[in-house]
Amino acid sequence: MTKKQFRAQKKYLKKYLSDIQLRAQGFYTVVDDIATVRDIEKFAGEVKGKYDDIVVLGIGGSSLGTICLRDGLSHMYGKKKKGTPRLHVLDNIDPTMIEELEDVITFKKTLFIVISKSGTTPESMSQYFYFRKKLEKAKLSVKKHVVFITDPVRGVLREISLEDGIRVFDIPKNVGGRFSVLTPVGLLPAALVGVDLRKLMKGAQDMRDIFFARSFNKNLPFQLAAVQHFLNVKRGKSMNVMMPYANKLHRFSDWYRQLLAESIGKKKNRKGKTVHTGITPVNALGATDQHSQSQLYNEGPHDKFFIFIAVEKLTKLIRIPNLNPKKEKIAYLKNTSFNELLDIEREATALSYTKSRRPNMTITIAKIDEEYLGQLFMLFEGTTAFLGEFYGIDAFNQPGVELSKKFTKESLRNK
Ligand code: PA5
Repeated sequence: MTKKQFRAQKKYLKKYLSDIQLRAQGFYTVVDDIATVRDIEKFAGEVKGKYDDIVVLGIGGSSLGTICLRDGLSHMYGKKKKGTPRLHVLDNIDPTMIEELEDVITFKKTLFIVISKSGTTPESMSQYFYFRKKLEKAKLSVKKHVVFITDPVRGVLREISLEDGIRVFDIPKNVGGRFSVLTPVGLLPAALVGVDLRKLMKGAQDMRDIFFARSFNKNLPFQLAAVQHFLNVKRGKSMNVMMPYANKLHRFSDWYRQLLAESIGKKKNRKGKTVHTGITPVNALGATDQHSQSQLYNEGPHDKFFIFIAVEKLTKLIRIPNLNPKKEKIAYLKNTSFNELLDIEREATALSYTKSRRPNMTITIAKIDEEYLGQLFMLFEGTTAFLGEFYGIDAFNQPGVELSKKFTKESLRNK
């Protein structure tokens, strides 16, 4: 980089950072909120052993972070740490979910966490009504089986909590749903199933510091946003495919899908001009989706940018036994492991995309744990904030989501 380029990037980075700060959002300050972490740890300690099942009633930003933390940090087939409850997230109103949940929980041993910033979302409120009625019918104390996470002042849940003495945790006013995973929204359910909140916050703090770095070379969120924006605006890449090579990060792509879609998909820019910005997020899982999507990605329209996520150490080394050394066609599997095979497949896929002139990058983390997940959350939140500034749109509102909520409520009122 020339001196001139260096000075220019420094100036832009400084400007965008100060613009982001002007938005007064809390997603990067919550990582220092150690008082909340303590509160949650205390609560988790008090209820330890009381519940077999934790049920989160929430949707969108009120559920995706929790699902990601649960699936990223717990046993894939449900093997539990002794004394730890199971965590279910009802992020839909498909009645089958309700019916089948009831097959596996006992109300006496279940804690329901109702999460809604607005306190009026139809999906979450209908579930709350349903399960509250069930608890009352079973003559169980609602106060002992229900906790709310909501806006610190406003909303119906806040009112009910005051009227009925239900324990409530706050979602800071300046943190929107999809940016709320590091508030009680993600922290409380995670703590109840044994996630180490201190490590999670530590990872997020480290990345927050990088997000505020004034040098382009250090500021990973700025670099990533610059690449995404350039590829979208100058090269017509209107889709981002996130493809972790790790089943435990599969739902991380779901979390990111909401973050990118809702934050950047906007009709108006900050000046009120109609712009219709947006990058369409797509989830894929390596190696599985090499066999379902790679054909399209290698040969279909040139409209995608790929983010691979690699994990250096997924588990201990699991070697693949060499059963038929004489069968030429499968002899390539000799002397390898599942770990190496997955890595090689990722590299081969990336190479094939590169050869087909499909832009791609790989984010590598050492392992999947609280600290790395904290870093990843903050990496993409910071990137999204930069993207909002690059496009000149408000990355923190969601009028399009509100519109369908409004129509649902109107239809129900008028039926
Ligand atoms: O990011 C957002 O703001 C939305 O996706 C919300 O999280 C989602 O609509 C749920 O809203 P609430 O938490 O108010 O129930």
